[in-house]
Amino acid sequence: MTKLPFESGVILVTGASGFLGEHLVRLLVADGCEVAGTSFTRSTAIAGARIVPVDLRDRAAAERLVRDVRPAAIFHCAAITDAGLCEREPESARAGILDSTANLVAAVEAFHPGIPFVAVSTDLVFDGENAPYSESAEAKPLSLYGSLKYRAESPVLGLARGIVLRAALMFGPPTTHKGGFLSWMINAVATGQPLPLFEDEVRTPVDGRDVARAMVALATTAEAHGVFHAGGPERLSRMEMGRILCRVLGTGENLLVPTRLADSNYPAPRPRDVSLDSGRLRKAVGFGPRTLEAGLRELTEQTPPRD
Ligand SMILES: NC(=O)c1ccc[n+]([C@@H]2O[C@H](COP(=O)([O-])OP(=O)(O)OC[C@H]3O[C@@H](n4cnc5c(N)ncnc54)[C@H](OP(=O)(O)O)[C@@H]3O)[C@@H](O)[C@H]2O)c1
Repeated sequence: MTKLPFESGVILVTGASGFLGEHLVRLLVADGCEVAGTSFTRSTAIAGARIVPVDLRDRAAAERLVRDVRPAAIFHCAAITDAGLCEREPESARAGILDSTANLVAAVEAFHPGIPFVAVSTDLVFDGENAPYSESAEAKPLSLYGSLKYRAESPVLGLARGIVLRAALMFGPPTTHKGGFLSWMINAVATGQPLPLFEDEVRTPVDGRDVARAMVALATTAEAHGVFHAGGPERLSRMEMGRILCRVLGTGENLLVPTRLADSNYPAPRPRDVSLDSGRLRKAVGFGPRTLEAGLRELTEQTPPRD
């Protein structure tokens, strides 16, 4: 396997106890990097990586982390990711998304200002009325989660090697604590439960492993700076995702229950189509993510993973 072109030093991954963070740590370890990953409330162990518990809302703790680890690059995945929770507890959402990122960025500025810093943002910075969205499109988040993630992009972009990667809805193999959004759908179909799915909510679902690979590629591309989008190759409604799942599992579609986002009553407002245009990422690092069907076949039929 090709080694990643980090010259030397420890790679720091925040949110290693989360879905994307764990995939990223596994990728880096497999490619021979020395990795320190952070956890917060959930303990986790990933072979070959050092896991450091930290609360990034605490500025002194963020500073200690960066001073002690002395990272050669940082991948910032940690955040509060439950949009409903953000609406219910706005102050803690602000601290867990915005303050945490600002604290980490301040520590990098103080101790290692020139290192690559790749932070993950979200397609939910858009209102869903003008898809597909390129990086120059105007952000107009509908939810507090989307708004805080958008505001957390600014400090990152002020860094000399600051990169923001806005990821679409992620699927992929389950990690220690989280299965990705498809897990509940797979479980429902496998156990014969009805599966209500929106016909009018469209996303560009992307495999978390492809997002992780893109983050690494950006960090190792000297001229990469600014905002990039990482969406999957297809624009799919939730119902279309369900149909693909049934096809891969070889089950009929009788468990799929068509519903409408427009008729629903979610605690956090949801945009109807936040499909991402990932052309900039494709040009910069050759981004070519797998389709939902390919990812699902790897998951359900044990076909060998692409990487
Ligand atoms: N999943 C998606 O579909 C998706 C789509 C677009 C963008 N994103 C973005 O991608 C990133 C990763 O998402 P994910 O789904 O992998 O998240 P996740 O599974 O919910 O994990 C979140 C991580 O953040 C950590 N964390 C939360 N609060 C913290 C704090 N105060 N201090 C330190 N760490 C803290 C958690 O630690 P503990 O678990 O140990 O508490 C966990 O490791 C997030 O920035 C998210 O906004 C996700």
